[in-house]
Amino acid sequence: MVRTAVVPVAGLGTRFLPATKAVPKELLPLVDRPAIQYVVEEVVHNGLEDVLLVTAAGKSAIEDHFDRRLDLEAALAAKGRDADLAEVRALAELATIHAVRQHEPLGLGHAVLMAAGHVDADESFAVLLGDDLLEPDSTFLGRMVAAHERTGVAVVALLRVDDPDRLAQYGVVAAEPGERDGEVWVHDLVEKPAPGTAPSDLAVIGRYVLPGRVLEVLRDTPPGRGGEIQLTDALRTLAAERPIVGLVLDEPRHDAGEKLGFLTATLALAARRPDLGPDLVAWLHANLADLEARAGGDTGGAR
Ligand code: UTP
Repeated sequence: MVRTAVVPVAGLGTRFLPATKAVPKELLPLVDRPAIQYVVEEVVHNGLEDVLLVTAAGKSAIEDHFDRRLDLEAALAAKGRDADLAEVRALAELATIHAVRQHEPLGLGHAVLMAAGHVDADESFAVLLGDDLLEPDSTFLGRMVAAHERTGVAVVALLRVDDPDRLAQYGVVAAEPGERDGEVWVHDLVEKPAPGTAPSDLAVIGRYVLPGRVLEVLRDTPPGRGGEIQLTDALRTLAAERPIVGLVLDEPRHDAGEKLGFLTATLALAARRPDLGPDLVAWLHANLADLEARAGGDTGGAR
């Protein structure tokens, strides 16, 4: 049974500087809730309720977001703002949140290794990266857990990327067709392959279901690319022992770890909100010419 979701949030968030100098990237809001809240809600929506945040110095506000705030609750109660009060309180009951510190940003693999004190050596767990946002009602993580329970091996989420230049920004898998539609057997992974050298068009994105053994492998994984302990390297070791499963994403996903993806995620999330969507879309229609003029008229290359 998969009980715990490990959510690494210890990175420096340099792509959003200067915004992330004093505010953790994971607390930047999309509409009216921070990115990390969507991730924790996804965990809960998919039947897991134990969350381990791998955090770092300067990021304790992330834990505060999921704690009670009694002074705020009292102020909202005194003003009769019951809906806001309920929303603020619900955050503390959303999931069981634990936190562990990664003292230095030594890589995603190293961040995952920090879970060793929290999950048992033979216990499987999920890993979610806040940079990848799925839709709030996504059940993809639950499907990954089911694939793991069926096969017993690690499961990675894959995104089909047609553009070779974009593909070169990801870890890309070498794979064969799997047992079921949308599933592949992964026998190797290549981190950021030079354009034209990728083994497939399937890129690894930030959802994983991993057997406890990955922690043992990570302990023996030397620093790789960029001097960091790479999760990809540990996955390569696992895949060489026995192919692992790749589940190809068949629903919208936003790369909120980069600026354009963060903006499009904000628009997509706002558009589906009854209190904002119609007004936002009407505004975009009415202002499209102005937006095009501000962009210098050069919008032909938009993705
Ligand atoms: P990123 O490479 O996106 O790093 O890591 P980052 O620091 O968050 O962002 P940029 O690239 O500087 O803008 C992917 C995920 O792994 C976590 C990050 O917090 C992010 O969720 N991470 C990365 C760690 O927790 N520890 C690390 O040592 C590295």
